[in-house]
Amino acid sequence: MRIGILTGGGDCPGLNAVIRAVAKSLLRQCGAQVIGIEDGFVGLMADTPRVRELTWESVSGILMRGGTILGTSNRANPLCSEADTDRVLAHARTLGLQALVVIGGDGSMAIAHGLAQRGLAIVGVPKTIDNDIVGCERSFGFDTAVATVTEAIERLQTTAQSHSRVMIVETMGRYAGWIALEAGLAGAADVILLPEIDFDLDAVAAVCRARERRQRYTIICIGEGAKPRGGERTVQQRIADSPEPIRLGGVAHVLREQLQPRLDSEVRATVLGHVQRGGSPTPFDRVLATQFGNEAAQLIMQGQYNRMVTLHGGRLGHVALADVVHGTRMVPRDHPLLRAARQIGVSLGDTLA
Ligand code: F6P
Repeated sequence: MRIGILTGGGDCPGLNAVIRAVAKSLLRQCGAQVIGIEDGFVGLMADTPRVRELTWESVSGILMRGGTILGTSNRANPLCSEADTDRVLAHARTLGLQALVVIGGDGSMAIAHGLAQRGLAIVGVPKTIDNDIVGCERSFGFDTAVATVTEAIERLQTTAQSHSRVMIVETMGRYAGWIALEAGLAGAADVILLPEIDFDLDAVAAVCRARERRQRYTIICIGEGAKPRGGERTVQQRIADSPEPIRLGGVAHVLREQLQPRLDSEVRATVLGHVQRGGSPTPFDRVLATQFGNEAAQLIMQGQYNRMVTLHGGRLGHVALADVVHGTRMVPRDHPLLRAARQIGVSLGDTLA
C-alpha cells in the first residue's frame, strides 16, 4: 500500500506531529509506504511531482518542531484549472497512491473534496490556529496560538500600566474570534472585540475613559476580523490565486486612530501577526495532533475515505468531507465564554456599561 501525505494552507504548530503519527501508524501497523508531497498541492501540480519517501527515521524527532517538514502553500488551487486537476490526478495514479492524507484548513478541505469527487481517495485532517473548521470543536495549533497571544497580552499589561496607556492587541483568526476570545480572557483583557459581534466605538471609548479615571490603563484584545457597527472589515491584502483571497489585518491601527481623539491617554496598537503561527506546539497540541494523525491512519486502513477526522464532544470521530467544506465555525452568540466574560465585567464592545 502506498499513501501520500501533504500539508496545505498556512502552517500551524503541530503539523509535524500529525505527519509523524500518520507515518508511524501506517509503517508500523501495515507496512505501508508513505510518500510525502512537498509544498502542499503545488508538489502534485508540478510537471514532475515533488515527493519524498517518509521513513521511520525521517519522521522521528519532529514531534515538537514547528512548521511542516514537507513545506506548504496557500496559493495553489488545482481546482482552478482543468489541466491542473488532471495533472494532480495523473500524478497520484503514476505514484500509485491508494489514498492521500490532506492536512489543511477549510480551503484545503474544499480542494480535497473536489479531488475526491474526481475519484481520488482522501482522508482529511483539520488544521488551523483559527479553530474555525466546521464539524471540529478543537483543531491543533489553536492552543499554541492562544498561549502565544496570552503571553503577549501579559507583557502588554505591564507596559500599559507603567505608561497609563490604552494598548490594543490584534490577533489572527479571520472571521472567527476564538483566538481573541480565549487569549483575551486568559490574558485579562478589559475589552474583547470579536468578528462575530460588531463593536460600538462609543462603548469601547466609554470603557477606556472610565478606566482612565480609576485603573489608568486599558487592554483591548481584538480579532483581525472585527468591525465597528455599520462598518467594514479591515482588509490587508488580496491574493487572487489563493483559495482564500482576502487577507484581513490592521484593524488595531484603524481602531487606534478612531479612539485616540476621544481619550486623554495615549493609545498604541500591536499586531501580533505570524508569531501566532510559528514555534513549537504546546503539549496539548502535540497530543491532539498525534491523535488526529493516528486516527487518519486508522481510517485509511479501514478504507474509509473522503472523510475528515474530527473532535466532537471531546471524542475523536470523522465526518464526510462534503459536510465540512461550506461555512466557518464562528463563536455562537450564546457561547458560555461570552456570558462569563460579560459577568466578570469584560466588555465585548457592544453595549455601554
Ligand atoms: O488561517 C490562518 C491564518 O493564520 C489566519 O488567522 C490569517 O488571517 C491568515 O492565516 C494569514 O495568512 P497569510 O499567512 O497568507 O498571511
